[in-house]
Amino acid sequence: MDSMRVSNMAEHLIGSEIIRLAGQIQEKIKLGQKIHNLTIGDFNPSFFPIPTAFKEYIIDAYNKGYTNYPQANGMLELREAISAHLDLNANLEYSPEEIIVSCGSRPLIYATFRTLINPEDGVIFPVPSWNNNHYSHLNFAKQIPIQTKAESNFMPTVNDLLPHIKDASMIALCSPLNPTGTIFGRHQLAAICEMVLDENNKRKSNKQRPLYVLYDEIYWLLTHGESEHFNPIHLYPEMKEYTILIDGMSKAFAATGVRVGWASGPKHIINKMKAILSHVGAWSAKAEQMAAAKYLKDADAVNGYLNNIKSEINFRLSAFHSGIQNLKKKGYAVDSIEPQAAIYLTVKMDLIGKRTNEGQRLNDIEEVYEYLLNEANTAIVPFYCFGAAKDTPWFRLSVGSCDKHEISDVLEKVEKALSKLQ
Ligand SMILES: Cc1ncc(COP(=O)(O)O)c(C=O)c1O
Repeated sequence: MDSMRVSNMAEHLIGSEIIRLAGQIQEKIKLGQKIHNLTIGDFNPSFFPIPTAFKEYIIDAYNKGYTNYPQANGMLELREAISAHLDLNANLEYSPEEIIVSCGSRPLIYATFRTLINPEDGVIFPVPSWNNNHYSHLNFAKQIPIQTKAESNFMPTVNDLLPHIKDASMIALCSPLNPTGTIFGRHQLAAICEMVLDENNKRKSNKQRPLYVLYDEIYWLLTHGESEHFNPIHLYPEMKEYTILIDGMSKAFAATGVRVGWASGPKHIINKMKAILSHVGAWSAKAEQMAAAKYLKDADAVNGYLNNIKSEINFRLSAFHSGIQNLKKKGYAVDSIEPQAAIYLTVKMDLIGKRTNEGQRLNDIEEVYEYLLNEANTAIVPFYCFGAAKDTPWFRLSVGSCDKHEISDVLEKVEKALSKLQ
């Protein structure tokens, strides 16, 4: 019945592919099977608890009665603490008025789209990437996905983007990138910034709306080894006028369920985001905000926690990377990209067309995924779930829920499964 139909937008919003995969995994677990679930972009609190001091400050804040409405753009105490944290740790100057807090970074990404995008405006985003297709759909944007390549660590290059910028109002970038765990190199990002500045100089003289950059850097504190994180403002301070930075407690402090995120950007844009999100009511809980303010000001606690979480994540990523490289040396059709940041390893399972011992051919990437799940009890996410081409042989392996004592077992099972393919 037409009268009972939902909006076109709601009707055509696609569900998360990862959630569909999670359903298959849960069924196997229900049947009593041990599954190494490396699909989840989240932390298992048994291996990655939130900082103890942060937890204590949250409890303390509830005891002190911080239970009524917070300020619409976030508690001033927290915005001041974020401003100081960005200055100290990221060499970025943002006043509390150029910062907005929300319940995690998702509402802020949504609000950035809502603030800057008219229906049918073009939004360029590289694929694989996380959820840009959904945020574009929610905001009626014209999606301009750019397929990236392994040779550039799946980060977009200026040449990939340049042909499309005339049609775009925003470029949505993410570094460190979910799903790949790779980051922009200085020159790669600088070239993109130069392109944006050049385009905006032209738009200024034509009195056109600027080309904005949404820069999601939620994993920036989780770099590994020699990797260095850059954002557009580090490279070109003039980019501040056109950039909205997305950040928060979720990833660096394993606090995905605590829900404190923030965005920084030009004041007039931040104020509009505040107006939009205050109608949605997407505030971070007041007690969590007061606790985050106190915690972020405690530089020793923050540094101690970050050193530990980075070494725990890096141990897992490096173990999987060297394990996969070993399998490659043995002649299996697998590969991995050296981990640079975040909690992800990019793994290649080039198995389409291979046959099992029973003579069954692996026809597509879904069958490769299922083969690994059934034969190695190991689940990783195919890149098509992040918008990459359906036959891409690359996968995301997440270590956020990984017991480090099980890594050698996973690698043995994967090798056994690979040895059964011809
Ligand atoms: C790149 C990226 N941005 C944002 C988010 C959302 O973070 P939050 O939990 O703070 O909403 C995620 C979560 O997986 C992510 O991977």
